[in-house]
Amino acid sequence: MNLKDLYINYFIEKGHKQIPSAPVVPENDPSVLFNTAGMQPLIPYLMGKEHPYGTRLVDYQKCVRTNDLDNIGDNYHHTFFEMLGNWSLGDYFKEESIEYSFGFLTEVLNMPVDKLAVTIFKGNDLIKRDEVSRNKWLSLGISEKHIAETEDDNFWIAGETGPCGSDTEIFYFRSNDPVPVEFDPEDERWVEIWNNVFMEFEKHSDGTITELPKKNVDTGMGYERVVAILDGVNDNYKSSIWKNTIEKIEAISGKSYLGNEKSMRIIADHLRCAVFISADNSGIKPSNTDQGYILRRLIRRAIRHAKNLGIDINSNWEEEIALTIISEYKKYYSELVDNKDVVLDVLKNEKIKFNRTLEKGLKEFEKMISNINDNKLNKDDAFKLYDTYGFPIELTIELSKERNIEVDVEGFKEKFKAHQELSRQGSSEKFKGGLASTGEKETKYHTATHLLNAALKIVVGPDVHQKGSNITNERMRFDFSCDHKLSDEEKQRAEELVNNWIKEDLKVIVTEMSKEDAIKSGAECMFIEKYPDTVTVYSIGDVSRELCGGPHVSSTGCLGTFKIKKEEASSAGVRRIKAVLE
Ligand code: ALA
Repeated sequence: MNLKDLYINYFIEKGHKQIPSAPVVPENDPSVLFNTAGMQPLIPYLMGKEHPYGTRLVDYQKCVRTNDLDNIGDNYHHTFFEMLGNWSLGDYFKEESIEYSFGFLTEVLNMPVDKLAVTIFKGNDLIKRDEVSRNKWLSLGISEKHIAETEDDNFWIAGETGPCGSDTEIFYFRSNDPVPVEFDPEDERWVEIWNNVFMEFEKHSDGTITELPKKNVDTGMGYERVVAILDGVNDNYKSSIWKNTIEKIEAISGKSYLGNEKSMRIIADHLRCAVFISADNSGIKPSNTDQGYILRRLIRRAIRHAKNLGIDINSNWEEEIALTIISEYKKYYSELVDNKDVVLDVLKNEKIKFNRTLEKGLKEFEKMISNINDNKLNKDDAFKLYDTYGFPIELTIELSKERNIEVDVEGFKEKFKAHQELSRQGSSEKFKGGLASTGEKETKYHTATHLLNAALKIVVGPDVHQKGSNITNERMRFDFSCDHKLSDEEKQRAEELVNNWIKEDLKVIVTEMSKEDAIKSGAECMFIEKYPDTVTVYSIGDVSRELCGGPHVSSTGCLGTFKIKKEEASSAGVRRIKAVLE
């Protein structure tokens, strides 16, 4: 039986309910580009909201991590991976969680106890050493020398803020060497396979930590790594997960995996990730920003490595590989089948696009390096390769490395950032939500969204935040975080507040300031990292203050009468209001 099924069944037997994998592109969390862990879609529930499936959950979740793109090509890093997870939302805690993990590994997967080792939280000024986990592991038969403790590596948080807590990590000795008596987490033969996080705290943006309303458990097991262990291989890409894909690349290129590992791993990994991103219902397409740019980089790097292997780029090699990947995964992810044509189109179009400039860019690169004398490719050249020939920076770095040339990456990044900020500033209203055109009526609706946002903060509570909006000249749609259906009274009060503010004819004032000052002044904003360093803040009387690209009316009196037409669920933890100005 597949590891995913074994895992799900085991936890269902232990009273858990299976939840479906969320999309790789988060639906309601614009602060991250991709789901990087199984817990991400569950954040509202880890923060205390009740989950409709109860307090014990299990799933397999599609994840994408692209922060260590350079590591792809080794034998165990992947940009796309699956995480097997089980959760307790205020239900069981450390001891039971450890018992379940140990039971699954030793009884279901039959892993020998002496090949397992764990780390636990060492303790610091704020939080005590995790004696409970340590004692539990000892009682289950993990030897004292196979328990290591750290401070930093045993405290887990998804980003800078949010639910967090100490954790215990489980390692497996993936080697034919004799198992060392003493466990050293830095020894690469020990592979981390599972992380059990005990989420008791919430970290805030000012660095303080408070207790969560409930103590939760969040675990994540690396599917790829465990399958490789079960298959008895020391290279993830030799496991059953990759067998057909690697064989396909071997057949297309006429080369063997042995000796061509790096390029084949990059092609396999990057195309798999690209397949999953483009099969997501969010409809991401290759572009020069955000998720689209990651998708572009993945496809382009795969193309360059296909070229390295001598594959005829104009053939339908990418389609053959993508189809192999799709058939491997279709049982678990039906969107791959539903969106197959979209995926194949994305890959093909990007290939055609990159093919137009790849040859020329490579020639230009040769010319550039024949003219340098300090073995350093300067930022202007690196930027030209990006801007004119579409070479993502890691491609330029890779090409340069092969010639022992260094790239001024920092310089490139500065130029790249300046360039992105310019285009962002130009389209900053995009981030305030779908302002397709900004005629008079749309402008009014735009101002009305700010008023509604402010009203909901009063009626529902200060935790209401905008999650999205969409405006046409006929209506506005406003998505906001809220854990319940609004009552008729709440809707009525919100309407009244907005209409009173309209009657008061409040002045709308725009000020330019640094992003930092804007945040300090308490201005509301949807996702701060999307904004340039200098931002515009719109204030409406003293009822609303938001970071925004505009445009807005100059005072509220012209808005007419505000009316909520509909209030409904948009997705978990997010409500949607449709409203009009009459
Ligand atoms: N959220 C934890 C992790 O990703 C389980 O490691």
